[in-house]
Amino acid sequence: MRQAVASLLLLPVIAVALPIARKLQDDDPPTCPPPNFDSVAGFNLARYISAPWFSIQQVPLIYQPSDELFCVRATYVPINPSDLSEGIHVFNEARAGSTSGERIGVSPSSSMPSQLLAFPDDLPEAQANASTAQSKLRVGVRELGFLYRTPVEPSEVSLPVIPGLPEIADIIPSFLQPLIPPEVNNFLANILEVVPTIISLIPSLIIGAVSRGGGQQPMMTPGNATSSLDTLFGVLVGLIPDEVIDFLQRAFFGPYWVVAISDDYQWAIISGGPPNVESGGLCTTGTLGINNVGFWLFHRNPTPPAEVVQQMRNRATELGYDVSVLQPVEQAGCEYTQSTPA
Ligand SMILES: *[C@@H]1O[C@H](CO)[C@@H](O)[C@H](O)[C@H]1NC(C)=O
Ligand SMILES: *[C@@H]1O[C@H](CO)[C@@H](O)[C@H](O)[C@H]1NC(C)=O
Repeated sequence: MRQAVASLLLLPVIAVALPIARKLQDDDPPTCPPPNFDSVAGFNLARYISAPWFSIQQVPLIYQPSDELFCVRATYVPINPSDLSEGIHVFNEARAGSTSGERIGVSPSSSMPSQLLAFPDDLPEAQANASTAQSKLRVGVRELGFLYRTPVEPSEVSLPVIPGLPEIADIIPSFLQPLIPPEVNNFLANILEVVPTIISLIPSLIIGAVSRGGGQQPMMTPGNATSSLDTLFGVLVGLIPDEVIDFLQRAFFGPYWVVAISDDYQWAIISGGPPNVESGGLCTTGTLGINNVGFWLFHRNPTPPAEVVQQMRNRATELGYDVSVLQPVEQAGCEYTQSTPA
């Protein structure tokens, strides 16, 4: 009798559950990224980079394979703390094989400069929504950081008077001049305008290169012109059309989106741009290549309580991520490099 009552009680449950299960099965593949997917609003970048982040779980990538998911930590150091748009050094570290394995990545305490730079994403698509733009960064190799330099007009730089420098009229015979398209003419005029600047910079460039000696300082510090080299890059960037700069930024700097962050900035979910790839009926980011890849659960504490990790996973699922692709990072017993970078 009791069993019969129990079955009767179960009937409505089954009646409701069956169509849902069928619906889940028949459903079209999910839209990836989920509709209106975006990074977090009201983000405070200075607060975000104020302390190192430990990767608790992440998707293995070509540059971060499963056997290197030990002691993964990211430390961010601004080039100019009062102007984060000048760029942020990214010091990534990990161990291979075990928590006492070989160190991978750049140690912030070593004299080596960081290999990567992060910049607030200033591409039009990232700036489309002002309330979420701050939580979108781009990360790429330090050597290409000049792509984020503020352009410098040659006219803003004090040009020395160098007698005898050619004008366009001097280098192109007069009968050919009407044949030159105006764009080419303008381009040549710009180049000629910059020549004196470059010539005037050469002595300080040489002195700068010699005094840098051991290569302790990054050769190119993006941002506002503070040295001759910076000025030169600013002038060169000013010569490159905006569309070309945008193209190069997209090609060489991968999107880094903070898609969730706790109110106290103790944990965060990071995604290599929006999750465009379908996975297990939900979405994830790609894993091939360098840009637009990866998905990380970050915490300030290398070994957060299990229920907090579960909370982070739940949040990721709510956002539409397939958390089954995540692998745990071993952090217990790790020895990290000095937390205050030199
Ligand atoms: C911009 O982002 C905010 C916060 O996520 C959202 O509420 C708003 O609808 C977005 N605006 C547009 C135009 O998408
Ligand atoms: C950098 O240049 C911009 C635009 O010229 C200016 O508003 C800003 O104050 C400069 N920042 C620094 C640190 O000099």
